Amino acid sequence: MASNWVGELIYEGKAKRVYRVNDELLIMEFKDEVTAFDGARKERAPGKGRLAAAQTVFLMRLLSKYGIRNHLVDWDGDRKILVRGLRMIPIEVIVRNYAYGSFLKRMPLVKPMTRFSKPLVEFHLKSDELHDPLITTDDIIEAGLTRQEQLNEIMGIALRINEILSNYMVSRGLTLVDFKLEFGFDKSGNLVLADEMSGDTMRILINGRHLDKELFRRGASA
Ligand code: ATP
Ligand code: TYD
Repeated sequence: MASNWVGELIYEGKAKRVYRVNDELLIMEFKDEVTAFDGARKERAPGKGRLAAAQTVFLMRLLSKYGIRNHLVDWDGDRKILVRGLRMIPIEVIVRNYAYGSFLKRMPLVKPMTRFSKPLVEFHLKSDELHDPLITTDDIIEAGLTRQEQLNEIMGIALRINEILSNYMVSRGLTLVDFKLEFGFDKSGNLVLADEMSGDTMRILINGRHLDKELFRRGASA
């Protein structure tokens, strides 16, 4: 389905193009490309943009039902979503239920897929150049990215999102291993969940098999 939304291209990232519609709204266009390792591996994947848009729309609408404020306004039914433009906080918030990925690299004492005693929330600075390094809450406050209360609020929202998504996945026989969130501030200073939620930004298992980008990271073709 085509949309008649128009906007000026203001940013092109690895996974999406961002267009400015007006003071309030942006269009995010999901690309038909899969990338991994900070963009070092990249392949064309027809249909992938629509899939990532559809997953994002489905999950953000699910979260809205539970009162989680997010940026989604509308979907064109294809690769584009209309979102509220935010002042983004340049950090990736990662929630982990099981030991996987970069956690295992920095903490090899824990066996792969060990279930944590409680979900872990961690922060990475968004920087491809530095490979999204792990940062502390003190780092975030000292850099002036958020205030302590806002960071506490982000952690609370991230854990609530984890509860909602984990319950949803379990009810469908899926295991939510880990996922990444991004947040921004709206004009009133409210924290709003932004960016995307898709197989690109979460690890999901079905009977031990991946339903996400992990296969591509391991070398499979798109
Ligand atoms: P990465 O893949 O590491 O997140 P990127 O810049 O390549 O980086 P893309 O997903 O391609 O990521 O680009 C989308 C950009 O739009 C990101 O910089 C993201 O932080 C930003 N963004 C997401 N939602 C909003 C929003 N509601 N308002 C403003 N910017 C947003
Ligand atoms: P993580 O284990 O930290 O990194 P890697 O993917 O390099 O092994 O990833 C945790 C989760 O966060 C995983 O579901 C993928 C997601 N994620 C992103 O969506 N974007 C990113 O830039 C990173 C580093 C992770």
